[in-house]
Amino acid sequence: MQWNFQEIQSQAKAEADLINDPLTLEDFRQKYLGKKGLVAAVFASLGQAAPTVKAAIGKGANDLRAFAEGLIAGKSVGTASSKATEEQIDISLPGTGESLGHTHILTQTMQEIIAVFEQMGFVSVETPEIETEFHNFTGLNIPIDHPSRDAFDTFYLDAEDPSARGRRLLLRSHTSPGQVRIMKEHKPPMAVIVPGRVYRPDAVDASHSFMFHQIEGLLVDEKVQFSELKGLLTEFCRRFFGPKVIMRFRPHFFPFTEPSAEVDINAEVLGIQRKKWLEILGCGMVNPKVFEAVGYPKGKYKGFAFGMGVERMAMLKYGINDIRLFYENDVRFLKQF
Ligand code: PHE
Repeated sequence: MQWNFQEIQSQAKAEADLINDPLTLEDFRQKYLGKKGLVAAVFASLGQAAPTVKAAIGKGANDLRAFAEGLIAGKSVGTASSKATEEQIDISLPGTGESLGHTHILTQTMQEIIAVFEQMGFVSVETPEIETEFHNFTGLNIPIDHPSRDAFDTFYLDAEDPSARGRRLLLRSHTSPGQVRIMKEHKPPMAVIVPGRVYRPDAVDASHSFMFHQIEGLLVDEKVQFSELKGLLTEFCRRFFGPKVIMRFRPHFFPFTEPSAEVDINAEVLGIQRKKWLEILGCGMVNPKVFEAVGYPKGKYKGFAFGMGVERMAMLKYGINDIRLFYENDVRFLKQF
């Protein structure tokens, strides 16, 4: 068989010039490049061709293929559509999107609590989770033989405190060391909150975890009264839980505050049947021994401090009855908030 490649190419060019829709372009592609197309026919004819012309026919076929491909590529009538026709894809269908996540319920709760205190003029500061015995205990007037210093109640690290020979570093057991750190660095007046993780070697159950979150509060000035602490926490609870919240202040003891109290929230009023009262925070007037430990002049300042459990706040507000739910990362739980 004889092939006049020049004539075939000029005919292809003439045909291509007239194409202006994807379907005709696809016909063109089939005619030249398809399985039963011209290029395939030329290659098929090689079998019967005389040895002297084989090379020329092979080259002619390759050139024609490249030429036809070039013509198709030069058409802007939609190679994508012709591909779509071929692959039977409906390109007008919407794509599969990535679903957006959101912040964890504990993060949301912390942000909510922080926002309320910020509205009242407090500044949020983070302090280290790895602490020294001085910041976690000594500076807070917790005596050397206090049970909370025991290894059963505090996670000690296998690392020496670079600032105190023979003393080990630890994972803070509360956010109160933040008080000591901030007062060592700043002079009153001050109103700060310290949010973050704390660690205690408690057996895990529905209401205990070896790690949980607290938000510490500290306000220091020359004249500060317990009634102001009470007023602040009452206003905070109303804003956080809503106006019908019922709370009670119960006398308590903490080495770093004097007098001290614990605050309970009435769970029934919030529509949760578990225990009637749930403790959410400890508080009190800063013990003068703490002012002494941070180097403030004797008798010059007064202040109050409080520390609240974030998980407890979230459990009460959202009716969550098991602390472990916060940490299991079960999306069925997390996506409810
Ligand atoms: N640090 C105390 C606790 O973890 C709470 C507290 C903070 C009490 C500040 C009084 C003042 O239980």
